[in-house]
Amino acid sequence: MAKLHSSFALFSICHILFTSGVFSATFTIVNQCSYTVWPGILSGAGTPPLSSTGFALQTGESTAIPVPTAWSGRLWGRTFCTIDSTTGKFTCATGDCGSSTIQCSGSGGAPPATLAEFTLNGAGGLDFYDVSLVDGYNLPMLVVPQGGTGGGNCTATGCVVDLNGSCPSELRVMSDGGAENVACKSACDAFGDPQHCCSGAYATPDTCKPTYFSEYFKSACPRAYSYAYDDGSSTFTCASADYVITFCPTPATSQKSSGSQQNQEATTVSLVSSGSNLTCIPSLFITGFIAILAIVWRLW
Ligand SMILES: *[C@@H]1O[C@H](CO)[C@@H](O)[C@H](O)[C@H]1NC(C)=O
Ligand SMILES: *[C@@H]1O[C@H](CO)[C@@H](O)[C@H](O)[C@H]1NC(C)=O
Repeated sequence: MAKLHSSFALFSICHILFTSGVFSATFTIVNQCSYTVWPGILSGAGTPPLSSTGFALQTGESTAIPVPTAWSGRLWGRTFCTIDSTTGKFTCATGDCGSSTIQCSGSGGAPPATLAEFTLNGAGGLDFYDVSLVDGYNLPMLVVPQGGTGGGNCTATGCVVDLNGSCPSELRVMSDGGAENVACKSACDAFGDPQHCCSGAYATPDTCKPTYFSEYFKSACPRAYSYAYDDGSSTFTCASADYVITFCPTPATSQKSSGSQQNQEATTVSLVSSGSNLTCIPSLFITGFIAILAIVWRLW
């Protein structure tokens, strides 16, 4: 009986931790690029900031960040960052958040930047996630759900190819010296017109259709958002999952190949593991058992 009581106490603690949002998910952020990436994280309005809003991730490094229940926000990678030796200001060639420091502290990244977007525990208790090129592209990103309990099309998404070489010249962003393509703008960013921005007369799903330029992004990265109303093929859902977010999942490729993409996704899945919430699972089983016992006792 004492054992049952202590099991119940353990369950209660776990239950409180679950429902109070202390534990929800873990984001594991991995840099497989041949260069340093400075991830930036922006929490949505009304959701708490994460423990970090920006940090450096060297080639081969990964970092795990706990994410509270019902968190929403976005995550992106900043590239070619430097600290000015006279002013001490931190700036990045792509994805810069304008904070002058490594932490983004509530600011988003300047487009063009590939974005991973999340709404955890949204409608129907599902996590909604996507990788978006609506604000342009700066580096390949892959989002892989781990250990979820199903809940829809709970699969990997992202843009795993290097678009910096194939980017149409109208959208291309060169490095300061003009030697390298560092990013690829969205057509909205490049031209600013209602048709490409899905604004004005084009502000509804019926009027804003794919364009030549959004189709370029879509054919390169079929699972990523290529324009504002690209929801059907670009939004994914999962329940109670952790997420692995990888920059440059296929380091040496700059060409699209669905075969190698799938291999890479499989590789990425097997490379990483996560186990948040696992400590509570044994007590959930015990509690299920106790609940059944209690019901049986009551019936007697
Ligand atoms: C862009 O692509 C070129 C050619 O594929 C490559 O040499 C260069 O390192 C890439 N730059 C970035 C930032 O990915
Ligand atoms: C995934 O499921 C969501 C929710 O049902 C749906 O809106 C979305 O279109 C689906 N995504 C894909 C790529 O099929």
